[in-house]
Amino acid sequence: MSVITDISVNEIRKQFPILNQDVNGKPLVYFDNAATSQTPQVVIDALVNYYQKDNANIHRGIHTLAERATTGFEATRKAVQQFINSNEVEEIIFTKGTTEGINLVAQAYGRKFLQEGDEVLITGMEHHSNIVPWQIVCQQTGAKLKVIPVDNNGEISIEEYESLLSERTKIVSAVYISNSLGTINPVPQMIELAHAIGAKVLVDGAQAAPHHKLDVQKLNCDWLAFSGHKMYGPTGVGILYGKRQVLEKMDPYQGGGEMIKEVSFAGTSYNDIPYKFEAGTPNIADVVALKAAIEFMNEVGFEFLHHQEQALLNKGRDILFDIDGFQPIGNAKEKASVISFLIDGVHSFDLGMLLDAKGIAVRTGHHCTQPLMDHFKIDGTVRASFAVYNTVEEVEQFAEALTDIVKKFRK
Ligand code: ALA
Repeated sequence: MSVITDISVNEIRKQFPILNQDVNGKPLVYFDNAATSQTPQVVIDALVNYYQKDNANIHRGIHTLAERATTGFEATRKAVQQFINSNEVEEIIFTKGTTEGINLVAQAYGRKFLQEGDEVLITGMEHHSNIVPWQIVCQQTGAKLKVIPVDNNGEISIEEYESLLSERTKIVSAVYISNSLGTINPVPQMIELAHAIGAKVLVDGAQAAPHHKLDVQKLNCDWLAFSGHKMYGPTGVGILYGKRQVLEKMDPYQGGGEMIKEVSFAGTSYNDIPYKFEAGTPNIADVVALKAAIEFMNEVGFEFLHHQEQALLNKGRDILFDIDGFQPIGNAKEKASVISFLIDGVHSFDLGMLLDAKGIAVRTGHHCTQPLMDHFKIDGTVRASFAVYNTVEEVEQFAEALTDIVKKFRK
């Protein structure tokens, strides 16, 4: 079992050069990890190394650089397969992020198979990227979008979910961990119940991938979408996992190079999975560098990660909740390392700016979850989201900074 010590967190921090800087004259406290996490030096090195030594297009050339680039790209596919324990490497599709993965499924599966009267079921805490693609495909097909309500703790009830499932439900698309609240949904149970009525399940794993060991064979989800940049990797690269038998039934998402077997003006035959879904030159450099992020996470280990982040969450709950006017938004029993809140009488944007002036980066606003904000009858929150390199001392600085800001507002 990993032992959590400040020494080991400090060792981890040293691998992130960006953290070692002052912002507005104060040491940077980076608490916007749910928006994007920072990248360790090994990821930056992998990116630079790729452009300095190996840059070429993949799957096309027979020259040495093309082979190196292809090998690097496919090595990441293998690393992702192992990271999420998928059965086959062909079940891993590279996208530009979670959003693209969900849009791909909505169009390549939903548009083909949904019919009038069918239902797509999502939760009330979805990110816009897990709402709008379904609204679009429902408009295209005549299917109906249904929503599992969220309660005031920011949780859904499994009984309510079950009551919304019926033979009309064809797709359930649910966020594993809410980006706005940190709520961990009972996704394994939801998948089982959806499969019992014959529905397919997509899991939005954008916030789960950096915090939770995801095992797609155990979960038994039909699709899982997540992003590299929230798990210590580069921006612009994401992963869509799909079960082979489901992916094979889906239409291509985009047409172009790579996704074809044979093209003639009379017609085209499509490539095998995963290439059928990877039209055009992909984001080779960032895919190559993503492998270094996965190796970093494997080295740190989920056990350490989980303990460190829970320690930060607990510390935050201990000290922030005492601040004058502090209102937590979302208080789920199962919660990742996210604290969303408001302070009575101080607008969230003002808080964000005043915290930034003290070197503290948080996200403010609706977090791309406007329907969830509507549920709470607010227009946004301040969100502090922690990563493995954050320290208890930073949480204390954050609490002091907030206390100071609130005092000035109350004067
Ligand atoms: N989805 C990201 C967030 O929650 C951008 O901030």
